Amino acid sequence: MKQSPLHPLTEHVLDSMAGCADGRLKEIMRSLVGHLHAFAIDIQLTGDEWRRGIDFLTETGQKCDGIRQEFILLSDTLGLSIVLDAINHGHEGHSTESSLLGPFYREGANEEAFGANIARTEGEPALIHGRLIDEHGGPVAGALIEVWQTANNGMYEGQDMDQPESNLRGKFRSGPNGEYAFRTIKPTSYPIPTDGPVGKMLLATGRHPMRPGHIHFLIEAPGYETLTTALYSARDEYIESDAVFGAKPSLVIDYVSNDNASAAGKWDLPSPFYEVQRDFVLCRRSA
Ligand code: BEZ
Ligand code: FE
Repeated sequence: MKQSPLHPLTEHVLDSMAGCADGRLKEIMRSLVGHLHAFAIDIQLTGDEWRRGIDFLTETGQKCDGIRQEFILLSDTLGLSIVLDAINHGHEGHSTESSLLGPFYREGANEEAFGANIARTEGEPALIHGRLIDEHGGPVAGALIEVWQTANNGMYEGQDMDQPESNLRGKFRSGPNGEYAFRTIKPTSYPIPTDGPVGKMLLATGRHPMRPGHIHFLIEAPGYETLTTALYSARDEYIESDAVFGAKPSLVIDYVSNDNASAAGKWDLPSPFYEVQRDFVLCRRSA
């Protein structure tokens, strides 16, 4: 493809960085400035629009504190975070695909027994189980699987003072055959935070703030790449329009109604309950 010539002013700015000793920084800054100039020229940006952009970025910074990170939310909603994920976590078709960690991960979840119930609030009971395996189908034993999700009101425990401590989050260890299991409730869709400039941007661009129902997973095993992923509910109203673009097709799962009374008894669940059987494939860490 024929490259259009750079604007003389762009050339001038790029030339000013000739003395940059850090090769990667130079590469990043040259590309950034080149794209930024091309963008302004392409859309013939006006002074007023430039000012509104500056005000938006200022407001985004002002919304950030020790807990709230509005810039990451901006990156998420512009699809930059999931592009970054695609660049840096190429799964080469073998391991389970990754997805966004999101802002609601909290360290310090309790380690629970195989099959424990992490739901301390109402919902539709579900059993999630499967195996952790390597790329050849062999078991990954002793891995730490951390899970977290929202309650039926669409809020994570850390956002909601009214939820019991440790509601809908926990850590599990995979067994000798890589097996894991936990009981929970079927997750519901929920909105990302909209009380800041990112919320205004979504509204102004005709977008909704919803994420389809999902359960987050953070899986760590010695010798394997850490897997940050999530499982998204099939047939969720927002499965095709996730506000942060994390719901990859390979991570969409079916909640199957199980009316087998002895299975319900075994897991101490009402009948019928939802069942999801899902394996995770981990990738060996390269030496
Ligand atoms: C989440 O799934 O928790 C999330 C991810 C990105 C932005 C906001 C929320
Ligand atoms: Fe989430």
